Amino acid sequence: MTTNPWRLSHCHNFSDFRKLAQRRLPGPIFNYIDGAADDETTYRRNTSAFDAFDLVPNVLRGVENVDLSVTVMGQRLAVPFYCSPTALQRLFHHDGERAVAAAADKAETMFGVSSLGTVSLEELRQRHANPQIYQFYFHRDRGLNRAMMQRAKEAGIDVMMLTVDSITGGNRERDLRTGFSIPFRLTVGGMLQFALKPRWGLNYVTHEPFTLPQLDDHIDLGGGAVSIGRYFTELLDPSMTWDDVAEMVDLWDGQFCLKGVMAVEDARRAVDIGCTGIVLSNHGGRQLDGSRTAIDQLAEVADAVGDEIDVMMDGGIQRGTHVLKALSLGAKAVGLGRGYLFPLAAAGRRGVERALGLMRTEIERDMKLMGCRSIDELSPANIKFREPHR
Ligand code: LAC
Repeated sequence: MTTNPWRLSHCHNFSDFRKLAQRRLPGPIFNYIDGAADDETTYRRNTSAFDAFDLVPNVLRGVENVDLSVTVMGQRLAVPFYCSPTALQRLFHHDGERAVAAAADKAETMFGVSSLGTVSLEELRQRHANPQIYQFYFHRDRGLNRAMMQRAKEAGIDVMMLTVDSITGGNRERDLRTGFSIPFRLTVGGMLQFALKPRWGLNYVTHEPFTLPQLDDHIDLGGGAVSIGRYFTELLDPSMTWDDVAEMVDLWDGQFCLKGVMAVEDARRAVDIGCTGIVLSNHGGRQLDGSRTAIDQLAEVADAVGDEIDVMMDGGIQRGTHVLKALSLGAKAVGLGRGYLFPLAAAGRRGVERALGLMRTEIERDMKLMGCRSIDELSPANIKFREPHR
């Protein structure tokens, strides 16, 4: 059903939050979140791929009480989903990561802080005790990598998550058209779109200045003059190999997970070098367009290494049934990205709380309809693959 949400209370699903976010955000920022690489084929397929899997419910199993908790990467979560690390959140709403961490805390789940986060991992750790992921990129400067890991260790980060699908930047054509970049360097059309959203602009200029505290302390970003594009091309190391990561895993000596693994062979190597988790992901379709979706690849990877390492996935999840499909195919938990970013942009902390609450309610209802009392009762027997009707 098409709805036209003007307020948070009108938002009942992903599409509603997305539309409200679109109303509130300047076009270049909305398109940065909503956009993906090349023709955005993978982005679209991330969600539609779920339609090729049918749920097969059981009945009459006494489902009055349903336990949604899972343990993943050594962390107990009250729900089988978490907030994946994403960049630049204070650009989407002035509370940014503070709002997301608070909502994740309320939902008793894990949240990620990005290297390109806009609130420091230490501040978030002090405010909240729920499990925190630190998302990490591999820099050319090995000393810098060690210093950043040390800092994360001292801050009390629970899970280190190295992104491995961004060895170079994806081709985001929407950003090229609007001129979106950090720092802002907009096309004339892009500037016009900012002028059309004065409320966002007012909030932006009346709150603390935009910074990247995970990086500012270590790298001279020229007071914001170094763009994210240059950060990726000049400071990150495209020569990174499995040997480099093996060293990082040893150094971290704790929960260490690779985000963006897709091939079974790579999943095995992650086990071999001592990783405790992998996230099947195509980065929300933002990197390699045409990449297989995580849900399509999940069963093969979970069958191969699911007993040795925690397999997670993200990409395209908009419904409780999507989560149940991923869990049935072997994921231990799933990550949300745009699924909480649009609610953040739409209404800050209240938006994220509502989105996570709705997701929880959907999963609880769907578990009852599936005849499952706890997440470990879901199995491949609950799912059948069929070619989607086109
Ligand atoms: C992105 C990077 C920053 O997808 O993760 O925009």
